[in-house]
Amino acid sequence: MQTASTTATQSACASAPGKVILFGEHAVVYGEPAVAAALSDLRIFVLVTTTNTQSLHVEMLDLPEPIDVRMDAERIVCSLESLQAPPTKACAERIRNLLVGFSNNDLNVEALTPLIYLIRQLLPVSMIQSGLDVRVRSRDLPLGAGLGSSAAFSVACAAALVKLASQSETLGRPDPMYFEQIDQYAFYSEILLHGTPSGIDNAVSARGGALLYTKKKDGDSQMESIPNLPDMHLMVVDTKVPRSTRELVAGVRALYDRHPSVIRPILQSMGEIATSFVKNGVSDVLTLVNVNHLLLRAVGVSHATLDEICETVARVAPNQAAAKLTGAGGGGCAFVLFRPDLEGREYVMQRISKSLQYKCFSSSVGGDGVLWLSPDKFPVTEEKDSSIWNERYSLLAATATVAALSWLLLRRSR
Ligand code: MEV
Repeated sequence: MQTASTTATQSACASAPGKVILFGEHAVVYGEPAVAAALSDLRIFVLVTTTNTQSLHVEMLDLPEPIDVRMDAERIVCSLESLQAPPTKACAERIRNLLVGFSNNDLNVEALTPLIYLIRQLLPVSMIQSGLDVRVRSRDLPLGAGLGSSAAFSVACAAALVKLASQSETLGRPDPMYFEQIDQYAFYSEILLHGTPSGIDNAVSARGGALLYTKKKDGDSQMESIPNLPDMHLMVVDTKVPRSTRELVAGVRALYDRHPSVIRPILQSMGEIATSFVKNGVSDVLTLVNVNHLLLRAVGVSHATLDEICETVARVAPNQAAAKLTGAGGGGCAFVLFRPDLEGREYVMQRISKSLQYKCFSSSVGGDGVLWLSPDKFPVTEEKDSSIWNERYSLLAATATVAALSWLLLRRSR
């Protein structure tokens, strides 16, 4: 084993964006085309540093159940020899069995499984043995809400680890020779997280921009980038209803297996919507949004909150905007799309967001995919720190005001 104190530490940092599926989620799992675009302002950042501590320290503080664990590096190396690529169920089980020894929280084990897999597959053994510090942060990307946070996590982790292993000095888009490896391993990580992903989420998070994506029968995929995504104005609505992509995808599969001749045409219609959007652009796009939502509802992946959002938009802004769920559904997020030639869009947006009791925000669509960054670009925890400061400052100010008022009252009463 390497002796700790003699080795200089190295760091690698990467970030990857969330995504919005405009048309064709779920159908894409069955080989239908789907359209997805990156949400390049909403990103996951990963910083990996070698430490010479012989342990693996992982910090993911933005999760609903924050993770801050330390694991013995030698145990990871010894217990997880020859993991399969792509990962099998048995391989996931081996990693989970190891992790339950470090954490008794199921959610933590689920989030750590793909990370441990990627570390074991992408880094040389000597680098793992000497110790690592892994930090993950999300910038504005709602987690587990259908906006591709898990794919962004997978892509950013794979990218940071590949950068560390290769010692590439490149910043910005990773070198082409490493890009394929990052995308491939991000897909493996998605298998561990979701079971049978189509690959659309990691594809768009890695590449950025917008894609017409089709998963082929042989497991390969066909991707057509949509260079000039029509000028679209999206508002995202977060219901904050938690859901599991794995369970929703499995639910559609069970329905499909029971009634293939009924469900297949519904999925094919969703594929037709995606193709028609790419062919015809935004003309009559509101109809496509409405119909796609109703088809998703028909295969059982909507939720009362998502239907309520669509109905409210139809009532408050008829012929001006339309809404549909995005991603796996079952809660999470919906998006609202506005008629491209609509005048006074800001006003309509305000009217809609006032009628909904959910968090609404707008985000630009398209933009950068995965990026290799200099380690000092890893976001610091300033929002949390500043809110603590604000709380402390307010408390101090309130105490001072009470003291000043008491002093004035005392003087008056004398
Ligand atoms: C999830 O973002 C999209 C789904 O179509 C699943 C997948 O494509 O892997 C629901």
